[in-house]
Amino acid sequence: MARRDPHSYTDDGQVETESFDLVAKLDFAGKVLRGEVTLTFRTPGGGTLDLDTRDLEIEAVRDDAERVLPFTLHPAEPILGARLAIELPEGTGAIRIRYRTSPDASALQWLAPAQTAGGQHPFLFSQCQAIHARSVIPLQDSPRLRVRYTVELTVPKTLRAVVAAAHRGRTEDGELATERYEMPQPIPPYLFAFAVGDLASHDLSPRSRVWAEPSVLQKAAHEFAGVEAMIEAAEQLFGPYDWERFDILTMPPSFPYGGMENPRLTFLTPTLLAGDRSLVGVVAHELAHSWTGNLVTNANAEHFWLNEGFTVFAERRILEAIDGSDVAALDAALGRKELDHAVERFKEQPGLTRLRTHLTGIDPDDAFSQVPYEKGYFFLCALEQATGRDAFEAWLKSYIAAFRFGAITTDDFIVHFEHALPGVLAKVDGERWINGEGVPEDAPRPRSDRLAAIEAIGIELPEPKVASRWTPVEWQLHLEAGNRSAETCRVLDAAHGLTASTNYEVLVSWLTLALRCRVLEVLPRVEQVLAEVGRMKYLRPLYSALREVDAARAATVFAANRAGYHPIARQMVEGLLT
Ligand code: BES
Ligand code: ZN
Repeated sequence: MARRDPHSYTDDGQVETESFDLVAKLDFAGKVLRGEVTLTFRTPGGGTLDLDTRDLEIEAVRDDAERVLPFTLHPAEPILGARLAIELPEGTGAIRIRYRTSPDASALQWLAPAQTAGGQHPFLFSQCQAIHARSVIPLQDSPRLRVRYTVELTVPKTLRAVVAAAHRGRTEDGELATERYEMPQPIPPYLFAFAVGDLASHDLSPRSRVWAEPSVLQKAAHEFAGVEAMIEAAEQLFGPYDWERFDILTMPPSFPYGGMENPRLTFLTPTLLAGDRSLVGVVAHELAHSWTGNLVTNANAEHFWLNEGFTVFAERRILEAIDGSDVAALDAALGRKELDHAVERFKEQPGLTRLRTHLTGIDPDDAFSQVPYEKGYFFLCALEQATGRDAFEAWLKSYIAAFRFGAITTDDFIVHFEHALPGVLAKVDGERWINGEGVPEDAPRPRSDRLAAIEAIGIELPEPKVASRWTPVEWQLHLEAGNRSAETCRVLDAAHGLTASTNYEVLVSWLTLALRCRVLEVLPRVEQVLAEVGRMKYLRPLYSALREVDAARAATVFAANRAGYHPIARQMVEGLLT
């Protein structure tokens, strides 16, 4: 009997869920999902079953013979939520739980029509990673336990429900519609996802379509048109695509992440819709998770770098295959800057700068940073440099093949790597990378001519002819070069229209720099961005910089926009401003 995941009550001495079948009705007015979920066990068993829940109201629990089962919903703990302990008679093969979610469910954001692009219909979406699935379904919410599922969602007839699964039909009855989905591949619970809204779709290739609100669809279809080429490049690198379809859902602007790799249905922030396909690296990233993360999954959040570090590595390989090594190196150089910022941010909690973390008592949302992404990436680069590219690529393919549809720890990775390429971990001091704090001095440095050109300029004003050809990443690298005088900032803005930029990556980097350099005339634009997007990558630097300039104003701006942010984003900004 043991709990092996610090963020779940799942006990490996108890029965294991093999699949769930969810039947749910969505009440947009009350912001409540009323559900009945059947959990079917791998092998029938008895005794106590501990499930994870958060803010759920449990109405009844029955077994497969419709007998009522006794249960205890324990008091909620701050990070884990409330343990639901159910007593199973010997030989129980499945249980059925009737329940409802809370309007404050941490995985759900219920948007009013005014918060959507069309303005006419409400919208609902889920975001379960890392440990929010339990606020939608009572289950064993640990990535070690893969489940298959079916979902039947009843929604207003004017809306469509999309699920990270295969569509099995829609029926309409009066004012309501019921959509059925089935997920044939087993997934960790954090990858369960759905959204409901006024949605239309456009085919990008035989195995990929993009969903969006009708008024956004054409723009999204244009932006993501290159997705099939990415899938093909990725299959060359990592092996066959195992999920049949790679569909994309363009989210409302309050989506708190850049992207989320929900299997068969990646969620993407609308801030990627720059018009020129310049921000599709995020698509490559979420696609890469189809191998690293969704096929080979971290056993728990302490090994998150296995998901994200590998995925950044894979993402840059896809970029390199499509756009060349210069572009991938520029991206990596920006990653290195973000890594240095993250290490600086965790000065007081240096344990969070390890790859393998220890998170008992720590909320994974609070531990989130670029460290697992970029330190993980540079560690894999170091291993690759020590082995040579061909040997490393062969190992990576064999690692994915060995652990596909599994969940692993950092030790599993070490054993596999050491067996395939003995001595290499010691050569790069893998122990220091994995369990040490900060970034090793001898970490690989990205190199490219274009990078060298930007670095040579430093914080000086670039030649307008040169800068006008920069990609967003080149702009960000330039803006990241350091603080400069307010006057230099103003000249730069006058020459290149940065405050008016509609490319969010460039815009937010610029506005952050401008605030730090006290170019206060950008304040209205900063407030505009904070009112229109809820992506945490942008909220974090903008609120931090705004707070430095004028703490009272930061608090007022947050108070005005708080209700429109996702619960996870709200929690993050609150932490930042207090
Ligand atoms: N899986 C993550 C998003 C995530 C991580 C959600 C942890 C909840 C908890 C996703 O793949 C991701 O990494 N998104 C990045 C984009 C990427 C290009 C680095 C993001 O949202 O910024
Ligand atoms: Zn990721």
